[in-house]
Amino acid sequence: MLSDLFGHIGFDVADAEALRYYIIGHMAQSKRAAHILSVEQCALGIACALQLSDADNFGGADMPLLRQAALLHDVTKEFTVPEHIRTAFTFGVELTSEQIAGEKVLHSITGSLAAAYLFHADSRVSDAILNHTTGAAGMALMDKIIFLADYIEPRRRYADCVTLREIYESGRERLYAVNNYAGAPALLDSLMLTGLDMTVRGLLDDGKFINTRTVGAYNYFVKNTGIL
Ligand SMILES: [Fe+2]
Repeated sequence: MLSDLFGHIGFDVADAEALRYYIIGHMAQSKRAAHILSVEQCALGIACALQLSDADNFGGADMPLLRQAALLHDVTKEFTVPEHIRTAFTFGVELTSEQIAGEKVLHSITGSLAAAYLFHADSRVSDAILNHTTGAAGMALMDKIIFLADYIEPRRRYADCVTLREIYESGRERLYAVNNYAGAPALLDSLMLTGLDMTVRGLLDDGKFINTRTVGAYNYFVKNTGIL
């Protein structure tokens, strides 16, 4: 039973207002709830501004699912390592030493499991949550939007976040100026590569463990953006 960790989930995950209230009530730290609500706005903003919200356009993102992924992406962020291990174990997943070593990554795994099995969200939602911290090779459009929104939401003050936000804003303005959004998917991929590049450099500078999924994601976007 995980009710001591997740409380009572007596609503449909498609009910955005109920989900938002749950998140606000569930997070012990108000700044965490504020971050999550900011990621929600930022993710929807990216999808709209880059014209990625239309299913006919670049196989666009499903906006209700994007909202759910944003609201649930950090649902287990405040868990301790034993709580992550217990959550994963409950859903039949034994965390590897690599996963436990990259402690920050644990919440993307357990958040994804919770989204799928406790909130009964669509697999596109749980995938986006799984990929939001490390990235992954072959990320879906929605995964990329959540990854970027988590990186550049306006409350982020780290230098790398500010830099990536400025690159996004200038790219967005460029597309807007020519009123042609054919370049939106390429812009998204180049933002992903820049974000992953900064993440990897930061981990190297700090002598920290680099998750193999992050390496896979970095290599994927190097190839995808035509650098290789
Ligand atoms: Fe986050």
